[in-house]
Amino acid sequence: MVLEKALYTTNWGAAYAGNSLELLDELESDSINLVMTSPPFALQREKRYGNVDQDAYIDWLFPFCKKVYRVLAPDGSFVLDLGGAYQSKRPVRSLYNYRLLIKLCDELDFRLAEEFFWYNPSKLPSPIEWVNKRKIRVKDAVNTVWWLSKTDYPKANVKNVLVPYSERMKKLQQNPAKYYKPKARPSGHDISAGFAIDNGGAIPSNLLQIPNTESNSQYIQMCKAVGVAAHPARFPEKLPLFFINFLTNSGDTVIDIFAGSNTTGYVAETLKRRWIAFELNPSYLAGSAFRFIDSNQNIDATLSLFNKLIQMQETINLPLSLQFSL
Ligand SMILES: C[S@@+](CC[C@H](N)C(=O)[O-])C[C@H]1O[C@@H](n2cnc3c(N)ncnc32)[C@H](O)[C@@H]1O
Repeated sequence: MVLEKALYTTNWGAAYAGNSLELLDELESDSINLVMTSPPFALQREKRYGNVDQDAYIDWLFPFCKKVYRVLAPDGSFVLDLGGAYQSKRPVRSLYNYRLLIKLCDELDFRLAEEFFWYNPSKLPSPIEWVNKRKIRVKDAVNTVWWLSKTDYPKANVKNVLVPYSERMKKLQQNPAKYYKPKARPSGHDISAGFAIDNGGAIPSNLLQIPNTESNSQYIQMCKAVGVAAHPARFPEKLPLFFINFLTNSGDTVIDIFAGSNTTGYVAETLKRRWIAFELNPSYLAGSAFRFIDSNQNIDATLSLFNKLIQMQETINLPLSLQFSL
């Protein structure tokens, strides 16, 4: 790794402020196990973190993806979360996320290992014109999440992301003879007695239901306490949690090239994965350090840490006990 000046480092990772289009060039080829990211979306309404115009969006994002391809390990994965969008002033959806997917597979030789859909039940209805006022479209509460790979067999282990069995399945496991007779289904599935074996959980589907309702985390509390704006488009921890568990092993390297508040890095840290975060906005990245410090810090020390980070003069090693070191 040739990157030198991180904004902060932790036991498992390093966060760098800068343009990931340039920072990606600093990484060795084939060195990253998972790129987990959520770029600024191609929404019509301008967001605080800046969006490029929908038409130009694919041309803007494509060069980042090209560089991701180079740094990704041969059995690595690229997980790209993209929110849907409407065309300007029309109740017609943009196809940008699908067009981008096809371009990535056609022109960069990425494979679509599987498409995922992140359903956020707590999403508010929008756009107001079509959904709330005219009532001609329903609430858009699903993001497309493309799981891309360089080979047909990226590293993946479903056993790491099993979900609880349904009540029905639990009953079946307790008394298979009572509830089920082994037989071939019309679908072609040959359901044998082994179907009722407890494998520690059920296989999840590609519809990930994860509410985005974080409102009282340490990150939010510290942002509020020191008067720093929290990142407006964070994804919930459970989203990177699922993919990091599914697609990497302990000690592997995960990178988020649009890190924002560094949700990915924080989750990777808790799972003992090496992580790298690239974020253009130093203020967002400085605030993300709040995820890694002791929760019982006084406000002055936290603010002083934030200001020190913003100045970007020296790399700060976290976690640290602010009371003693600042
Ligand atoms: C949707 S947000 C990511 C939020 C993140 N997933 C989280 O949980 O906080 C996208 C981020 O990409 C950053 N960004 C935009 N252009 C960038 C670039 N060229 N290099 C690095 N980061 C960039 C924006 O500043 C923004 O914080």
